[in-house]
Amino acid sequence: GGDASLPIMNNLDDKYPAISDLAKAAKRRIPHFAWEYLDSGTTQDVAMRENRIALDRVRLMPRFLKGDQAPDLSTTLFGQRYDAPIGMAPVGMTGLMWPGAELMLADTARRGSVPYCLSTVAAKTPEEVGPVAGDMGWFQLYPPRDLGLMRDVLARAWDSGMRVLALTVDIPAPSRRERQRRAGLSIQAGVNRQMLSHVAMRPAWALATARHGAATLATVAKYADGTDMETVRKFFVTQFMHNPSLDYLDALRAEWKGALVVKGILDPEDALLAERAGADGIWLSNHGGRQFDAAPAAIDALPAVVQALGGRVPVIYDSGIRSGLDIARAIALGADFCFAGRPFLYGVAAAGQAGADQALHILTDDLRNAMLQFGAKTLPGLRRVGGVMS
Ligand code: FNR
Repeated sequence: GGDASLPIMNNLDDKYPAISDLAKAAKRRIPHFAWEYLDSGTTQDVAMRENRIALDRVRLMPRFLKGDQAPDLSTTLFGQRYDAPIGMAPVGMTGLMWPGAELMLADTARRGSVPYCLSTVAAKTPEEVGPVAGDMGWFQLYPPRDLGLMRDVLARAWDSGMRVLALTVDIPAPSRRERQRRAGLSIQAGVNRQMLSHVAMRPAWALATARHGAATLATVAKYADGTDMETVRKFFVTQFMHNPSLDYLDALRAEWKGALVVKGILDPEDALLAERAGADGIWLSNHGGRQFDAAPAAIDALPAVVQALGGRVPVIYDSGIRSGLDIARAIALGADFCFAGRPFLYGVAAAGQAGADQALHILTDDLRNAMLQFGAKTLPGLRRVGGVMS
């Protein structure tokens, strides 16, 4: 119960007042290749920059003279109550940024009553994360070609207590991620060599991360014919990295008993296709600018998708959120819920568990402030007619 402003006495609030402070500390603390993996977009990083430019352009008209108010940040999504409309987006190779990051994020999510979405390519399995996340666990799926394998992965997520599944559809091709390559990180080369090269600088980090990060394909490893990194990687690339069709979505829909969200949608036509195939929610995202550098800023794509869906299914927004104000902006433009990827990893990499708490605190505390400025008591109150200046 209560609200999501985690711990009330939070001395990190002065040290890291903004997500950018967590990012700065993270950059100092983790090796260059891990930072580049986390922070980069793709190609010229245009789509990633545009996410910020477009969000900063969204102006909200403040309203006053409403008396003292205590804004209510809570909301219900797919039958589950959350203390704030912000979740932790799936981030692959999580254990590479910080050993055990998945469990820290899941723990912060459970205590803060916000969702944590585990990636298919994390260093922890649904079985490990589920009990820590409690009711807050979601699972992100890169879709296996083999339907038997798909069923097994879904059963594992379900049996681990995860009730919301996000099917990621915006990876029809692996993007080139030039900054990561320059930094020496490519899944092809394997990450272990890079980790070893870091041993001299930060031995404790390198050893712990080698243990956790080497198991980056932890969920997938069960199915591969062999446990060495290269065998598992090859298996992942051929079996999981594919471009699912509408038929595939039908098969997935028939199999998954929980809520099904299609992640990575930008075009209203795609949103309608997914809705007609039985999606319970549309997750609008340009993958944080990591997939297609000519993609529109996600926030610019939001209004048309909201309009096309007409409120029949909820719209989840991510890409570029760095403050509570950004959450208010997305909700004002029609989103029902928001997620953030990098901010929570910056938090963990900067200060471990306390850093994850602080990232959530920054976002929720700032959202409360934005709601007070806007004169909104509730999240739907952020949709005031005429509230968005364009
Ligand atoms: C991602 N994202 C992602 N998405 C997904 O569906 N599966 C995944 O495994 C990953 N992996 C991943 C790794 C890293 C390092 C990042 C930064 C992102 C995309 C993620 O879920 C989300 O869409 C974006 O992170 C949102 O943009 P912001 O909040 O990072 O700006």
